[in-house]
Amino acid sequence: MAILDHWHPVLPSSQLPRNCVVGVKLAGTNLVLYRNSKDEVGALLDYCPHRRMKLSLGSVYHDKLQCLYHGWTFDANGNGESPATPKMQACAKHFEVAELYEAIWVRNAGATTEFPKFEVDGHYNVCNLHHQVKAPLELTLDNFCEIEHTPTTHAFFGYPLERMHEVEVEFQPTDTSVRVINKGPRKDISFFLRMLVGIGSDYLFMDDWTTYFSPVYSVYDHWWQCPTTGTESMVRWRLYIFFVPIDDSETALFTFAFTKSRYPGPAGGVRLFAWLMRSQLDYEISLDVKVLEGLADKNPNIDGMKLSRFDRVLGLNRERIERIYRGNGAMAATGPEN
Ligand code: FES
Ligand SMILES: [Fe+2]
Repeated sequence: MAILDHWHPVLPSSQLPRNCVVGVKLAGTNLVLYRNSKDEVGALLDYCPHRRMKLSLGSVYHDKLQCLYHGWTFDANGNGESPATPKMQACAKHFEVAELYEAIWVRNAGATTEFPKFEVDGHYNVCNLHHQVKAPLELTLDNFCEIEHTPTTHAFFGYPLERMHEVEVEFQPTDTSVRVINKGPRKDISFFLRMLVGIGSDYLFMDDWTTYFSPVYSVYDHWWQCPTTGTESMVRWRLYIFFVPIDDSETALFTFAFTKSRYPGPAGGVRLFAWLMRSQLDYEISLDVKVLEGLADKNPNIDGMKLSRFDRVLGLNRERIERIYRGNGAMAATGPEN
């Protein structure tokens, strides 16, 4: 299994209009995406087999990708033709493409991995976001898989610093996933937001997520809950965040945000406030990005870190990244527990 065998989102659909060509990088490999006039999207290695030009400098010509250098054209299967030597043909490496949730996804042609499962029946797709972080995959995932940073980093999500000791954390690893369940006193939230989301004054903040490794992504459920009756807030979030390595030092985040509302009306009234949710979520993720870019050491190895009770997940995730995502078989444990 190679990293590119997994389905990855690589570009928001809005960034690839018709008849346009865009270069992207995935796990250190340069790819070129193009969309023709029929809305068909192709993905090829960004490397012309003729004389090694970057295909991402080319253009769409007669619904194919045309190389800037000598005008050879390539279809979505990489079949190339030379205008000057019509009998001469060459093949560029191509990738399989899917377009879903306003993103373009690719994987190696012929790979047999499954497309990530979106379990979002009854949910409303509030927004999809794209961020880039100057930090490697593992360190980026670390940030999104523990809640100890939420008091100091986040405005809305998470727990208050002075009551962090009350927060319960539970790990449920399986061979292919890692689930983390957190429960504790909520942060102070503005009265307006509390009313909007339906959060009672004594409600706990619940944060329950599972990370999968083909590709690397976490599915987060966030909600607030009454500690005595179990009554939930009127609105819940379900976020799918994909951690996509651009190369060894940079990671893209593709967030697909859904809500489930118990308020009456279409989409539980969420449509009216989608702009607010989008800007709030965008802001919260940008706070994570800022923190990650402030790391003094971006070596993804956790040896030598002083890990807390919230950090067991770091070792669990690394073992699965290496074995499932990178396909390196059973690796030696890199944390206190794996
Ligand atoms: S290098 Fe691409 S057509 Fe010659
Ligand atoms: Fe965070």
